[in-house]
Amino acid sequence: MKTDCDTMQKEIGRLLVNEIKEGKAYSLKIPENKDDLEVIVVKYLGNVRAWINSCPHDGRPLCRDPDYVWDTSGKFLECMNHQALFDPKTGMCTDGPCTGDSLFRIDVSHEGREIILRI
Ligand code: FES
Repeated sequence: MKTDCDTMQKEIGRLLVNEIKEGKAYSLKIPENKDDLEVIVVKYLGNVRAWINSCPHDGRPLCRDPDYVWDTSGKFLECMNHQALFDPKTGMCTDGPCTGDSLFRIDVSHEGREIILRI
């Protein structure tokens, strides 16, 4: 069932479900945005989540290559600038200069074989 909020959101991208692998991250450009923002899409513990690739510490991208956004344990997303660690389930910074702040979440929904990203 769609709500008014759902209908107000704008679709910004689609990915095929079977292309998103556990423990991997992917980036997508957000169309028509003057700030050239990207979305980081991750699959962690079976769930797909997406975040704006912008660190709440000072707005710089967390990563330039999504292959390097995971920390060495594979349990946190790590900002390349000052090594803030983010919980991939919540987007919350758990360690670093922005502890307690969160990444900006992108709405993720499943439709058939596709993941739809909306903002
Ligand atoms: S810009 Fe991400 S931790 Fe400083």
